[in-house]
Amino acid sequence: MAQNTHVIVFANEKGGTGKSTTAVHTAVALQSTGHSVAAIDLDTRQKTMTRYLDNREATARRRQIDLPSPRHVTLGLMTAAGLDQEMARIGSGADFIVIDTPGRDDPVSRAAIARADTIVTPINDSFVDLDLIGQVDAETFRVKRPSFYAELIWDLRKERARADGATVDWVVLRNRLQHIDAHNMRRVGKALVELSKRVGFRTISGLGERVIYRELFPKGLTLLDVDAIGGIGLSHIAARQELRELVAGLALPVRENDQPELAFA
Ligand SMILES: Nc1ncnc2c1ncn2[C@@H]1O[C@H](COP(=O)(O)OP(=O)(O)O)[C@@H](O)[C@H]1O
Ligand SMILES: [Mg+2]
Repeated sequence: MAQNTHVIVFANEKGGTGKSTTAVHTAVALQSTGHSVAAIDLDTRQKTMTRYLDNREATARRRQIDLPSPRHVTLGLMTAAGLDQEMARIGSGADFIVIDTPGRDDPVSRAAIARADTIVTPINDSFVDLDLIGQVDAETFRVKRPSFYAELIWDLRKERARADGATVDWVVLRNRLQHIDAHNMRRVGKALVELSKRVGFRTISGLGERVIYRELFPKGLTLLDVDAIGGIGLSHIAARQELRELVAGLALPVRENDQPELAFA
């Protein structure tokens, strides 16, 4: 693996928060802007990222079009050593390795988090999702204490710091935001601000709740594939803007001269 390969791990022990969807969109966005991206799927049961990218390749073949796609693999040997081997193989020469993890705790997911430069934890705007990171008071919604997941990430970041002194950026991504529930959004937002100071993450906005994200999967398309999607409505333009802000919010080491192309709106 090249020295300057940046590893992004999408992790949350809860399923259905949008790890795979945001992982694929991020990987395709980076590949579309001229970076070399390798994607590794650790969810060997659901294989959402793998299937998404397989669908993408099939669409490119079927329609005989060029769809920028990261090279990708489902991890075979589910051990930390297996992960290291795969990162070295498929990640060789890559600018970014994007790793998608299953919605459960297992040793390989932990190993991935301990190798991350950027950890992305998508959560839905709900105290149920927040409970993994921190517990809030029932009456005031103020943060009482960090939860087990925050402690796990804390420990793994320390492990990384001991291994090579790297500092790791932990980004909690508020996904599937629904603007109809502004009250709840504000309360969750306040709790996140308090928690972020205590356990050291930062918060960014993710994708809004939109049907389009569910419909793109069978063709393996993303919001960046304007021509392949066909007619682009106003809501798609807003969605592409969300995606652009998401990728910018990750503050990744993208090459400066590729930035203009990030203007995929
Ligand atoms: N922004 C979004 N808007 C609407 N549906 C979404 C959004 N993000 C994810 N989904 C849907 O939510 C479900 C879970 O998403 P997924 O990415 O598979 O989560 P995870 O990998 O965390 O389990 C899927 O049906 C997916 O299509
Ligand atoms: Mg998934």
